[in-house]
Amino acid sequence: MCGIVGYIGKQDVTEILLGGLEKLEYRGYDSAGIALFNEEGVHVYKDKGRIADLCKIVDFEVKATLGIGHTRWATHGGPGKTNSHPHQSSSGRFTIVHNGVIENEGMLREKYLKDYPFKSETDTEVIVALIEHFANENKADIDNVIRHVMELLHGSYALGILDANEPGVLYAAKNKSPMLIGLGDDFNMIGSDAMAMLQCTNQFLETEDGEFIRLTREGVTIYGMTGYVVEREPFTATLDASDIEKGIYPHYMLKEIDEQPSVIRRIVQEYIVNDEIVIEQDILDAVKESDRIYIIAAGTSMHAGYVGKQLFEQMAGIPTEVHISSEFVYSTPVVSKKPFFVFISQSGETADSRAVLVKIKKLNYRSLTITNAPGSTLSREADFTLLLHAGPEIAVASTKAYTAQIAVQALLAAKVSNEPGIDLARELAIVANAIEILTNKKELFDRVTKELLTHRNCFYIGRHMDYYVALEAALKLKEISYIQAEGFAAGELKHGTIALIEKGTPVIAIISQESINLNTRSNIKEVKARGAKACVISMKSISSSTDDIVIDDVHPLLTPLVTVVPTQLIAYYAALHRGFDIDKPRNLAKSVTVE
Ligand code: M6R
Repeated sequence: MCGIVGYIGKQDVTEILLGGLEKLEYRGYDSAGIALFNEEGVHVYKDKGRIADLCKIVDFEVKATLGIGHTRWATHGGPGKTNSHPHQSSSGRFTIVHNGVIENEGMLREKYLKDYPFKSETDTEVIVALIEHFANENKADIDNVIRHVMELLHGSYALGILDANEPGVLYAAKNKSPMLIGLGDDFNMIGSDAMAMLQCTNQFLETEDGEFIRLTREGVTIYGMTGYVVEREPFTATLDASDIEKGIYPHYMLKEIDEQPSVIRRIVQEYIVNDEIVIEQDILDAVKESDRIYIIAAGTSMHAGYVGKQLFEQMAGIPTEVHISSEFVYSTPVVSKKPFFVFISQSGETADSRAVLVKIKKLNYRSLTITNAPGSTLSREADFTLLLHAGPEIAVASTKAYTAQIAVQALLAAKVSNEPGIDLARELAIVANAIEILTNKKELFDRVTKELLTHRNCFYIGRHMDYYVALEAALKLKEISYIQAEGFAAGELKHGTIALIEKGTPVIAIISQESINLNTRSNIKEVKARGAKACVISMKSISSSTDDIVIDDVHPLLTPLVTVVPTQLIAYYAALHRGFDIDKPRNLAKSVTVE
């Protein structure tokens, strides 16, 4: 939620900030703004809308070599210009961009800022007001002022700060919200992620919670919580700038759907060597020593976790529970004697999941993060990490991360299993081919979607593994096409929800398992008898000649990897036909870093 970028160096900063913000737009796109600091002072340009809108109001004649930028997902106050970042203190001395949420902003306003002339409704303005308030008391040392303000803040923040009295310094601070430092010759940067800075550098420094950072053109000094200087080795990002381009595709989502076969093949290459699954022994021991796995995740990652539950239980015989992270924090169940926690997160930054990780770490429980983002907060803070190797996922609607999450869970489940299990190298190769066949049939999905999704609502139904995919399919359809969609256990429909079926209601059934084939087909008859327009997605070996989408057979435990693909494409075409912004659906952000 929200992206920040900052630069201090020799080059003109405007293009650098705007280029960085474009890469961060996936984190929020309610408003955008930049502040340019030159010998005349600090120039702020900001407004509601996207980076493209911001470009129309920026004065490109203003040249500066120090600046900060922000793209916003609104939390405190609507998405209008006044609430947009950067925010300036009342005297104009301090300018700030912020990603995160300040939980005690009300108390801080009350205690220190009663007479302060606030312009916006944001929690961010409280930070910049506090900096000015304490700077007025302690004129000499701005480092100490910012550190003092950090001590007062409860919540999450990644901050970029300009002080009009310090033209050669960019200040930054971090707590809970992600922030990387980008290093270069004659310049240094801050950004919410590496992608925002790749145009300038591939050398980065991580930052930890509670750290305060002083960047000049020549160097970076990181201070730990109590003011000591932190020495940290930089790392080189393996990301290539071309990995984050759309290339020939009209949308990232379509590109990412098409990338799924190569992601599955890459996962096989990364995790299977000479027919052996290679996973760190400590992870295997930790899983084997546990009596129950607790999968913690949100949204699409949670849906991948449901499939993981089946894999851990059926392949490895380990009882597994799946929990919504935002619920687990507050209604924590009684856990088993030796629990093992598995966090699934594409971004590795989801605040709801992190809150659970913080909680279970205090209880000394062991944890693994399965993520696409090496170095992310959940990865750094869990005991172990398994990477998805899916490449950057830019579209807000998650597709290739979901399939990668299932594939990696399958590998882990197979490896901890005591049984001579499935030959996953072979089975995942079959999966990759089956997905490729589906992604080559785009006209079919385009047509089916046009004919089927004529209503404001839609049901996905399925049993067993297909139910889990139905949940994910419905989420995908909702989030980008705004069609009210529900994923339902096919057998449960008649216990109430079937009342919603009327003439023309679209019902899409997924049938991938022999054991549930006939039952789900009966449920389709029931909804059709009540006027539903049905569409059937099935596996070849159990298909009927009237099924609409037939998928080449794969191992029964791996069917979610293929049955989800038609549903991703249906969501894509539904949004396309309705003319919506597919990669940046309304009200959403890719990385949900607020609880
Ligand atoms: O980065 P995470 O996997 O932790 O994100 C969790 C959810 O916010 C995410 O899966 C969300 O549901 C997807 N964008 C939906 O497509």
